[in-house]
Parts: sequence; C-alpha cells; structure tokens
Amino acid sequence: VGAIGTEAAAPAARGTPGRLGVLTSGGDAPGMNAAIRAVVRCGLFRGARMVGVRRGFLGLLQGDLVEMEPGSVADIIHRGGTVLGTARAEVMRTAAGQAAAVAGARAAGLDGLVVIGGEGSLHATAALEALGLPTAFVPATIDNDVPGTEQCIGFDTAVNTVVQAIDRIRDTATAHERTFVVEVMGRRAGHIALTAGLGAGAESILVPEVAIDLDDVCQRLLRGRARGKRHSIIVVAEGAGAAYAHAKEVERRTGLETRVIVLGHVQRGGSPTAADRALAARLGAAAVGCLLAGTPGRMASVAGGRVRTLPYAEALAAGSGLDVGLFELAAVLST
Ligand code: F6P
Repeated sequence: VGAIGTEAAAPAARGTPGRLGVLTSGGDAPGMNAAIRAVVRCGLFRGARMVGVRRGFLGLLQGDLVEMEPGSVADIIHRGGTVLGTARAEVMRTAAGQAAAVAGARAAGLDGLVVIGGEGSLHATAALEALGLPTAFVPATIDNDVPGTEQCIGFDTAVNTVVQAIDRIRDTATAHERTFVVEVMGRRAGHIALTAGLGAGAESILVPEVAIDLDDVCQRLLRGRARGKRHSIIVVAEGAGAAYAHAKEVERRTGLETRVIVLGHVQRGGSPTAADRALAARLGAAAVGCLLAGTPGRMASVAGGRVRTLPYAEALAAGSGLDVGLFELAAVLST
C-alpha cells in the first residue's frame, strides 16, 4: 500500500510497520478524537498494529493501554473531548519522568508513538525522541500556539464557540446599553481573543503579546457611544490580566455600566467544526505516515494552507505567529 492522499503522505513503509501507540496529552481540544481516528485507521490501513494509550503520558507510565481496531474509533469523529482521556503530566518535564515514559513504551512493545497535544506535549515528545523512542506529533490545542504551524486542531471550534457566545452577549448588552468584558482562554497566547474579537466585531481586544492601553480602550468606547452605539464588547485573553479589574477601571473612567463574563472551559468542549475535523484527518495521517516511513521526530503542521512535516527542532525554533496587524483592522472595523 502506497501513500494515502496526495499531501504530506508518507512514502511506502520500509520493513514491517510494527506496533504504534497513540495518545492525547495536555488540555483537550475539539477534534482530538478525529485525529485519533485518523492515526489509528491510517496505521491499520498500512499494516501497523495500533495501541491507544489512556490518560496521556500517565498511561505510558502506568501501562494503561488498549489495542485498537477500525471499530475502536467508530462514531467519534464528531465528539469533543478525547476518548483516550488526557492529563497534564507534570512529571514529563523531568528527566526521570521522560526516561520512565520511554521504559513504559518499550515494556508495552511500542515501536513508535504518535502524540496529539499542545506546546508542552511537543517538548515532552521531543525529549522522548531524543531518548531513542521514535515519535511523531500532531498539534492540537484551542490556544493555537504550537510553534511551527499556522493552525492547531481545536482552535476553529473554540473561536466559533466564543463568537456564538458573544453574539448572545451582544443582544443583552444592546438591550441594557452596557459594556461587556468577555474573558476568553489563552494563558500565554492571544489567538482566540484576536480571531474571535475580529469575528464578533469587538471594540477592543486585549492579549498577552501586546501592551494594554486602557486609555485607548476607554476613548474608543466613548467615541462609539457618542456616535450612537448601544453596546460595547471588549475581548480579553486570560493571559492579558484580570478581566474584573479591567472592567472596574473602564467603568470608573467612562461611567459606562460594565459587566464581565468569563467563558472558561465552555470553549474547550463541543462537537468539532468541519474545518477542525478535516484538519485532524490531514495532520493525523501525516504524523503516523512519518513513523510508517521510518522518518520519526517530526511534527505535522500547516504552512500556507498545505500540510507538511518538519523536525521538532525546526518547529520549536519557530514563532507562534500572532498577526498583530489584525488589531489595527479590528480597530478600524469597530469604529
Ligand atoms: O491550553 C489550553 C487551555 O485551555 C488554556 O487556554 C487555559 O489557560 C488552560 O488550558 C486551562 O487549563 P486547565 O484546564 O488545566 O485549567
């Protein structure tokens, strides 16, 4: 059996494909299940035996594994969360934890491992690769901040969830002529805030990557009110400081009645969008394809809309690519 699809698909496998594990790690993201499905079914299609590792890297440490067949991933393409479970395994930041995970993989007879997760999981996966375990990586986090890829699985769904929420908030904001500060996820990254703020027509967008100018935020609100706007929306990434403190200060400076809503983990759940499902299929296939081709140590990624794979070191050296020019556009569009 040769390459699957036309894009970034691996050349025909050399030797026996062997026994490959797949796990999801870190914060869950909608589309992780679609990625598991793609990895498992492509691996099986190419003659590998596929094994699911439960609860992220903890499952490797504890030998919590499940054999996968085509039916094991049936009826999950549309489900949020992850059927394998996930964990934030802090121990994977330590050399001892990494060595134990490699030992666990060897004890389980794994010839390779596909990891689906965010930036922290990429670092852990690169460490296992350096210790001699063949690995491949699929970027999946609603934060969209894995370096070396333009897109991560889950981001599109989370942004849609936020925009739908803001549409509802806008109704009540207009009815009461209020300002709303909407806090969205993103501890270190403003991707959700920027894209959702642009898509929802927010007056101001505050993110950790850009210095906050509350004077500018207040001036924009007052100008909007003066020209007859009956509501205002300020989107704040959680990493850009306390939403409540910002709201209080905005209310004090403008005299406009202000409310806060923290969207929280609602953003992580729900059925993945079509875009996230398709992305999961493409990235999952490309990642397992690296192991099948005998070219491990690579991350599946999107560049210019195309899927490619690149070595971990190259991915980790890249930026997470927040397009700060879009703030200006958002500001112009919301005047
Ligand atoms: O990494 C995804 C993310 O949802 C971040 O946006 C958020 O800061 C964090 O996870 C929350 O993590 P937890 O669910 O472990 O509290």
